[in-house]
Amino acid sequence: MQFERIEVTNVRVLTSIRLHAEPGMNLVYGANGSGKSSLLEAINLLSRARSFRTRRLKDVITRGSDHLQVAATVLTDDQRHIASGIERSHSETRIKYNGDVVRLMSDQVRNIPVLLLAPESQGLLTDTPKERRRWLNWLMFHVEPGYLSTWSQYQKAMRHRNLLLRSGASPVEVVGWERSMSVLAEDMVTSSRSMLEKLQQQFVNELQAVMPGAVKIQYEGGWDETQPLDEALAQSRKADMRCGFTRRGPHRADTLFYYDGHFAGSVLSRGQAKLYMIALLLAQSCVVQQCTGTRPVILIDDVFAELDNGARERMANRLAEMEAQSFITSADSNMQAYCTGLFHVEQGRIEKYTMAEAEE
Ligand SMILES: Nc1ncnc2c1ncn2[C@@H]1O[C@H](COP(=O)(O)OP(=O)(O)O)[C@@H](O)[C@H]1O
Ligand SMILES: [Mg+2]
Repeated sequence: MQFERIEVTNVRVLTSIRLHAEPGMNLVYGANGSGKSSLLEAINLLSRARSFRTRRLKDVITRGSDHLQVAATVLTDDQRHIASGIERSHSETRIKYNGDVVRLMSDQVRNIPVLLLAPESQGLLTDTPKERRRWLNWLMFHVEPGYLSTWSQYQKAMRHRNLLLRSGASPVEVVGWERSMSVLAEDMVTSSRSMLEKLQQQFVNELQAVMPGAVKIQYEGGWDETQPLDEALAQSRKADMRCGFTRRGPHRADTLFYYDGHFAGSVLSRGQAKLYMIALLLAQSCVVQQCTGTRPVILIDDVFAELDNGARERMANRLAEMEAQSFITSADSNMQAYCTGLFHVEQGRIEKYTMAEAEE
């Protein structure tokens, strides 16, 4: 998939901009505070209806305004031109795709697959398991068509169990929900492991191209998997009753990232972590393409521009080989040799240069 036209209204400093993106690498450069990250934030919003920089929507809407809008035309891999847009006010979000109102965010995430890497993303290696579950869910929703339904059913069964535990129900009433959770958990764990195996294979290749060292991704299901989940739940029922929620199961799963046998988050330098995260991003892109036939659009905020020349060149070549559309931000235009589209952002205005102008 690729973006063609993008229009952004009232996203931070970008009060009104419009641009025509190119296939391949779009380099967005400009001074600090000019609005580069805001542009990536706007594109990301269209896909996920959330910001990668803040949880509070009012931070994103231009001060003094009451709503934001991002509209785009995308070219799908089967060559259809489709319009999509998101409008958010303080109270509601409206998303449209191909003339229809999108009610489920998971549908829009699939309509417009976007992979993002920002300096904040390195937190994946060090943050809480919750962030990694969100990361894994994004991938699973894309590559495993049945996953969303299994995941929702599991959440529903767990909510029933929690309610019953809180109301002091007898074990007979709870056991049915525990069995359902167990069957669904088995399914979630198996499909997550299978996807992560594919990802790991690709990740090994991607990382090899940029730095030495062995990588490993390990999934932990969220309970002692030597026993079925329903047995674990039966054992922890009394304690769960006391705290009022379910403490075991794939809603507590984690994905651990290793580098040379150690937790990547503890041993990688900042520079190495950047390479690690870019390699992971490229691997994710390949897995999504293998499984769905669609290549996600790649957004990289700052991280790419901060690599040394050699690493940057290898990564740029890899992006070009993959034929993915990307938007890369940088404080300067030094990387213009790699790009197909060049945009200069200045105080919330954006100007496109043709490559001939850029070479002058
Ligand atoms: N809600 C908002 N309304 C107006 N301006 C904002 C808002 N939030 C942030 N800004 C401003 O937007 C500018 C651009 O930010 P950003 O996109 O992060 O710049 P860059 O990535 O180019 O350094 C900053 O100067 C910031 O102060
Ligand atoms: Mg920025």
